[in-house]
Amino acid sequence: MRVAIIGASGYTGGELMRLLLNHPETEVAVATSRTLAGTPVTKEHPHISGFTNLQFTNPGINDIDADFAFLAVPHTAAMQFAPSLLERGLKVVDLSADYRLPQKVFEEVYGVPHTAFIPVPYGIPELHRKEVNGSSFVANPGCFPTGATLAAAPLAKDADAIIFDSKTGVSGAGDNPSASTHYPNVGDNVNPYKWTTHRHLAEMKQEIKWLGGTADCYFTPHLVPVNRGILTTAHILLKDPMSQEEVERKYQEFYRGEYFIRHQMPRLSAVRGTNFCDIQCESEGKRVVVVSAIDNLMKGASGQAVQNMNIMCNWKENTGLQLPGLLP
Ligand SMILES: NC(=O)c1ccc[n+]([C@@H]2O[C@H](COP(=O)([O-])OP(=O)(O)OC[C@H]3O[C@@H](n4cnc5c(N)ncnc54)[C@H](OP(=O)(O)O)[C@@H]3O)[C@@H](O)[C@H]2O)c1
Repeated sequence: MRVAIIGASGYTGGELMRLLLNHPETEVAVATSRTLAGTPVTKEHPHISGFTNLQFTNPGINDIDADFAFLAVPHTAAMQFAPSLLERGLKVVDLSADYRLPQKVFEEVYGVPHTAFIPVPYGIPELHRKEVNGSSFVANPGCFPTGATLAAAPLAKDADAIIFDSKTGVSGAGDNPSASTHYPNVGDNVNPYKWTTHRHLAEMKQEIKWLGGTADCYFTPHLVPVNRGILTTAHILLKDPMSQEEVERKYQEFYRGEYFIRHQMPRLSAVRGTNFCDIQCESEGKRVVVVSAIDNLMKGASGQAVQNMNIMCNWKENTGLQLPGLLP
């Protein structure tokens, strides 16, 4: 299958290339970048040197020659591509925020009008596999909401309140440097940001509600000096106390048969470079503390996008994603 990566020079685009060049069913046919058109992709992504001779291009939308497209561009840019690619018969996974929320919520949270809204499945396959299967367009979830939602989902209906506290690596901000990602500000440091107002909270609330939950949800992210990974601690305040055994049983049952969920001590080093979400929980009766670890560029973005592609194309869900971690 011929695949186009729109926004191939960024971090999630580079990660998509790493995965798709090694995927038995895909050929990367188009890798776009407005600023690097005409240069070899390996100049920007030396980690895939030897796997491709492709050059970045900047084609018009109607000249994107492929069967499937990943939109790895900033929010508001994806909505400029999606409708015409779908009209031309391509299947699409959007990694941006443009299609993750209902139009009204998107416009409130992102403060911009949505000019090309289409309701599409929200691609956390462990929760929305049926909707993703058979769809030609999927909204890939945000990185924080993926780790947070997977941590809380089995207890969503049992909770009164959920407080998500996340630590993220710096690649979550994309490859455009800024003052907050400047090495002396990040190195040897921990920075909380958007303590109560991070945009991803809207996705977490949406998913807890979709799961039948009524809990109040809160979220505070922190930037930590690692390249990849999100570790989320979910403090789940229950309506009624539950024992450790009950909670563990719930998590085992909820995720039974899920290849990408591992019930083990969550550590960034064990999920780095993989599409796994490692989860563990501890109950003290009324409060359950659940910790999840994902790689933000994998289960939080490109890995989950490939997982969604596999489902949309009726391939085995873990095709091209059977990767162990990179310890240490
Ligand atoms: N980084 C993460 O961990 C992560 C996780 C989940 C979701 N996401 C989402 O995934 C998307 C990509 O993130 P990223 O971290 O890969 O960003 P990035 O490193 O900044 O890369 C953005 C890419 O989009 C291209 N681009 C920018 N503006 C464009 C436009 N108006 N039209 C066409 N191409 C454009 C850029 O190349 P040119 O400027 O050369 O065209 C570049 O290839 C974002 O929406 C982000 O929120 C990121």
